[in-house]
Amino acid sequence: MAVIADRCPDIEVTVVDLNETRIDAWNHKDLSELPIYEPGLDDVVARARGRNLFFSTAVDEAIAAADMVFISVNTPTKTKGIGAGQASDLRWVEACARQVAECAKGHTIVVEKSTLPVRTAAAIKAILHASQRQSRADSALLTFSVLSNPEFLAEGTAIRDLEQPDRVLIGGDDSIAVEALADIYSRWVQPEKILRTKLWSSELSKLTANAFLAQRISSINSVAAICEATGADVREVSRAIGSDRRIGSEFLHAGPGFGGSCFQKDILNLVYLCRHFGLPEVASYWEQVVELNNWQQNRISRLLVNKLFGTVTGKKLAILGFAFKANTNDTRESPAIRISLDLLEEGAQLAIHDPKVDSHQIALDLGRPPSEELVSLKGSGSWMFAKSVADALKGADAVLILTEWDQYRELDWAGLAGLMRAPAWVFDTRSVVDPAQITDAGLIIWRLGEGKD
Ligand code: UGA
Repeated sequence: MAVIADRCPDIEVTVVDLNETRIDAWNHKDLSELPIYEPGLDDVVARARGRNLFFSTAVDEAIAAADMVFISVNTPTKTKGIGAGQASDLRWVEACARQVAECAKGHTIVVEKSTLPVRTAAAIKAILHASQRQSRADSALLTFSVLSNPEFLAEGTAIRDLEQPDRVLIGGDDSIAVEALADIYSRWVQPEKILRTKLWSSELSKLTANAFLAQRISSINSVAAICEATGADVREVSRAIGSDRRIGSEFLHAGPGFGGSCFQKDILNLVYLCRHFGLPEVASYWEQVVELNNWQQNRISRLLVNKLFGTVTGKKLAILGFAFKANTNDTRESPAIRISLDLLEEGAQLAIHDPKVDSHQIALDLGRPPSEELVSLKGSGSWMFAKSVADALKGADAVLILTEWDQYRELDWAGLAGLMRAPAWVFDTRSVVDPAQITDAGLIIWRLGEGKD
């Protein structure tokens, strides 16, 4: 919404949320205090906020005043009831639709921005149309059009992805509404990149785009394991297969497994839909992408324990990177969570460092508070927050790199090696270090997907 406001100064954009603390944070004078860390976002907000971009908790008033309402609430995986563990929980989408139905005035275009299972637009339409029949004095004047306009931005590169999108997708059957939304994007997106589809195609495209991307990561991660077993190197294999135009070079980085709020949730959602529509084989096919991802995360912690003579109880391990990828402070479904929990279960003492994730968030994710110092209590695991890489490495038997932050590419290993306890290991799951530097510093290196002859 901030980018729309930035690109269209004549359109007034009001972002509303029931959560007052969050809205206050979006209105914070100090732009470094915005609730989301995203490179370039502060500049966009600085240009548009107060001009034609507003953040407010006055939800009803904003709906009443709007020609177009974007529903952008979260749709997490259901934790209980029918479809628990796979289907999306649509309660917030439904609540939004009901609130729009209650407060809208005249003709309103309702845009699904949240990632939703196929045919959710039908539910939104049903709720909106029911309100037209209700006893509101102005119900005769009340009309709605529902569009699907899924978001393809990736965290960390959100501003670039929005300013120069590969495509914008608009699904809908009311061509006037579709064109009204297309008009907004056409201020900065080339016309051939604005794709118009049926509602259902648009909803399904979003889920399957993520499923295809995640599938590539699970595929290359499985190849990494084959590389380790055979003596091949996944970086070389990745370059070789990525040079085939039909395959392409992007999304072929082997890593500790994909994280983030989207891939797992969307694939499980797809799996649930497949089962619902009587396609169990298709469901199992996609489910395997998620299973392989869980396997990859477990594989890293098992391997580390094995290399450290079969036990990490009482040993100090430095974890570099807790965010699910670089350039974000988001830790949702981060592979670092499962890997850290596995290691804590093994009795390890973890010193965790991340340039943007704070101690409070890590405590929430690990379900336990940090310790001031690492002390092994009867062999049970504990963790502390390390303010610097050097702090994390002090006395450590191994360092495990889980996020590809640029600062980890530039570490001075010759200087850092002396802080660790020999024989000390560097486990690099993101291919960020130069192996020669590590060995020259007297450390032992393990890199994901690197087989030894
Ligand atoms: C993903 C999609 O890339 C976006 O197109 C989509 O809009 C978004 O989900 C969404 O549905 O909202 P995001 O989750 O922000 O975006 O991040 P990605 O860059 O896709 O990374 C996801 C995970 O895959 C990260 O843990 C990343 O480290 C991992 N990854 C990515 C790899 O392990 N290897 C790669 O080559 C690429």
